[in-house]
Amino acid sequence: AFFAGIAIAQAASAPTSSEDASAYSYWQPGGPGDFRGPCPMMNTLANHYFLPHDGKNLTREVVTKALQDALHFEPSLTEIMFEQALPANPLPNATWFDLNQLNVHAVLEHDASLSRSDAYFGNNHVFNQTVFDESKKYWIDDPITADQLTNSKVARQLQSRAGNPTYNFSSTVDNFSRGEILAPIVAFGDKVAATTNRTFTVHFFENEHLPIHLGWHRPTDPVTLEDVTKLSEILAKSQTLLTDSVSEQQGTQNTTHGETE
Ligand code: HEM
Ligand code: MG
Repeated sequence: AFFAGIAIAQAASAPTSSEDASAYSYWQPGGPGDFRGPCPMMNTLANHYFLPHDGKNLTREVVTKALQDALHFEPSLTEIMFEQALPANPLPNATWFDLNQLNVHAVLEHDASLSRSDAYFGNNHVFNQTVFDESKKYWIDDPITADQLTNSKVARQLQSRAGNPTYNFSSTVDNFSRGEILAPIVAFGDKVAATTNRTFTVHFFENEHLPIHLGWHRPTDPVTLEDVTKLSEILAKSQTLLTDSVSEQQGTQNTTHGETE
């Protein structure tokens, strides 16, 4: 009810969107003195000037407007994400963060990213083609399916655990990480089918640029907390590598046990 209240108040008082197709055509990568971080989308929105191009002083208002204008995120969803991001700023009672503050390992940034190396190997925030090629190997269909997104995440976890003696991946990180692999679905895909357009998604990761010239447009329907929650559940289910349900599995074990005794 709390979230619904925010959404309704917003709909009544503000125009639905300040979409300006021309805003997508501005694009400049970060230069000297500009901050960028481990989030390909926050970097992309700064490159497109939806966020301050220098990547500094990202307040609730600035982030909410950027995600609404560029990606049609419902303000109530962005506000939750913003709250989760604020601890990135080490100042007590901070009301903003800078993109480079997202780089600090084990605050929000974590191991086994799809497109960044682990902090242990040196750089946890700049796009890394070798790492991304490993993730991409699992994106065998266009559109990319939920299982294929999960496969790339699990493969990166396996790769990290095998090679990184400091590999760390808590259940909190797992939740956060599922939020990241579902992000391309809500930005570039079909949230009902839980798939994402492969061409758009790959272009976005590799260029930190929105794929307007490839035919992408701002999602027509707003992206809500409910969308994200549903998709996160779908991805959580797809993380098991077993092909039968838990109850079937227990049934089989019981039968086998009974027969052999
Ligand atoms: C990754 C922060 C919004 C897409 C990350 C990471 C951080 C972060 C800290 C790094 C985690 C890691 O891989 O180690 C934020 C903040 C946001 C935000 C503070 C807004 C308040 C978004 C949005 C999207 C998005 C709107 C797309 C719709 C992604 C993706 C990754 C990621 C795909 C995974 C990158 C990878 O695994 O290489 N984000 N993010 N983020 N974010 Fe964001
Ligand atoms: Mg990372």
